[in-house]
Amino acid sequence: MKVYLETFGCQMNVSDSERAATSLRAAGHDLIDSDVGADAVIFNTCSIRERAAQKLYTRVGEIVHARNGWVRPKLPIIGVTGCVAQLEGDSIFKQTGVVNIVAGTRATDRLPELLDRISAGESRVIDLDERKPDETWDISQTERHSAYVAFVPIVEGCNKFCSYCIVPYSRGRERSRPASEIRAEVVRLRENGYKEVHLIGQNVNSYRPKNDPILDAVVGATPFSRLLRVVAETGIERVKFTTSFPRDFHPDIVAAMDEFENLCNWIHLPAQSGSSRVLRCMRRGYDRENYLRRIDRINSAKRRHAITSDIIVGYPGETESDFEETMSLVEKCRYSGLYIFKYSERAGTPSAKVADDVTKEQKTARYLAVERVQRSIQTEIYRSFIGKTLEVLAEGRSTKNPDHLTGHSTCHKVVNFPAPAHQIGEIVKVTVQQANPNSLWGTLAV
Ligand code: 5AD
Ligand code: SF4
Repeated sequence: MKVYLETFGCQMNVSDSERAATSLRAAGHDLIDSDVGADAVIFNTCSIRERAAQKLYTRVGEIVHARNGWVRPKLPIIGVTGCVAQLEGDSIFKQTGVVNIVAGTRATDRLPELLDRISAGESRVIDLDERKPDETWDISQTERHSAYVAFVPIVEGCNKFCSYCIVPYSRGRERSRPASEIRAEVVRLRENGYKEVHLIGQNVNSYRPKNDPILDAVVGATPFSRLLRVVAETGIERVKFTTSFPRDFHPDIVAAMDEFENLCNWIHLPAQSGSSRVLRCMRRGYDRENYLRRIDRINSAKRRHAITSDIIVGYPGETESDFEETMSLVEKCRYSGLYIFKYSERAGTPSAKVADDVTKEQKTARYLAVERVQRSIQTEIYRSFIGKTLEVLAEGRSTKNPDHLTGHSTCHKVVNFPAPAHQIGEIVKVTVQQANPNSLWGTLAV
C-alpha cells in the first residue's frame, strides 16, 4: 500500500512516526509524502494545544472532500494515532464516520497489523493498549527526519500529573529505555554519519531504567546524569536533551556537561510560573527559589549555557501579583528562548475542575507583557553574538534563500549563512554578522 503519514506536535510524535514508518516499510508498504494517491492516510495527532480533536476532524473532512475531485476516486483507509487517538478512543469513529483505525500512543508500532486487518475486511479497528514487552524502540536510519540530527527516545510517558497537563493521560506511565539500547543506537547513528542526537522524553531527568549494568559502571548521582556520560563517551559530535523537569534537575547534570564538551550548552528548563503559590496549584513540586537555584547552578558552569523555558500565563486564580512574579522571573533568568502559553483547559485534568477566573483579555494582556520583555532580553542576547564565531551543524538549505544554508549552534540557535550545498551535514564555523529576533546570520569563518 501507499501510506501517507502526517505528523503533528512534539519531537516524541516525530520519533513515533519515524518508528511507525520503519515498521510499515518492513511490512512492505511504501511511504509517500502527500495524501494524493495514498491508499492509507494516517494522522499522528497532538493534544497539547486547544481544540486538538477539532483540528483532526477538519483534516479528515479535507481527505473526504478531496475524494470527489479527479485525483482520488476512492476514499483511502484513514487512521488516527497519537494523543488524540488515545484520549478520544472510539468516539473518533462516531464523530467522523469514515475513520478506520484508531491507534493510541503506544500502538504506533502495530500500525501494519491494524492496516492488515482493514485490508482483510474489518471496517473499524481500535488499539489503545500498552507497548508489548518485545517491541523495540529502534528506528531505521532511513526513516529519520534528518540525515544528521536524530531524535533518540530515552523515556516515554509522564508520572508528574501537573494539574493542567493532559500528557500523563495521553502518554501513560513513565517507561525508560535500557541504556545498552540507547548507547547502541547512538553508536550506529554515529557510524552512519549522524552528527547530533537529541535524547528526548517528557522528563528526561526522570530516566530510571530497571537495573542496568551499563549505568552501574559509570559515575554519576542520577541515572540520567550517568546516561549522559555513557552517550557522551560514544564520541558522537553533539548531544542535546529535552525536556528537563526542574524538580529533578540534579546539579550532577551540569557537572557531566562540564566534563564532556560534546554535551551541548543548551538546557530547556520550563518554569511555567514565577509564583510559588501558582506553582503549588500547578503541582509542579518546586517553588520559585528552588527553580532559581537550578538556574544559578547552570550559570556557574564552566561554559555559558543557553537556557530556554515554557511559561503559562493566566492559570486559574493567577492574580496580578502572581503574574508580576512571573515577569520578574523571566527578567531574572534571561532566557535565550521562551514558549509562552495562555492557560487553556484540558478536559479530564485536575485544573479543569476549578473555575477559570482569569478573563481572556487578562490572559492576552499578560501574554503580550511577557512577550515584550522576552523580546527585548532575547534581542540583547542575540546581538551579543555579533562578531563571535559559533560551531554550526549545516542541516540543509535555508527556505528563504537557496544560496544559504541553515543549521543550529551548540547553544541551539538557528544560524543561516551563505555556503555551498556540499557542506550540508558538516559542522562549520560561522562568524555572526547580524542578529534577528529568532535567528543569527553570519559568514563562514576563515
Ligand atoms: N494550557 C496552556 N499551556 C499548556 N501546556 C501544557 N498544558 C497546557 C495547558 N493546559 C504548555 C506547558 C508545557 C508546554 C509543552 O505546553 O508550558 O511545558
Ligand atoms: Fe505535563 Fe507536567 Fe508531565 Fe510536563 S511534567 S508532561 S507539564 S504533567
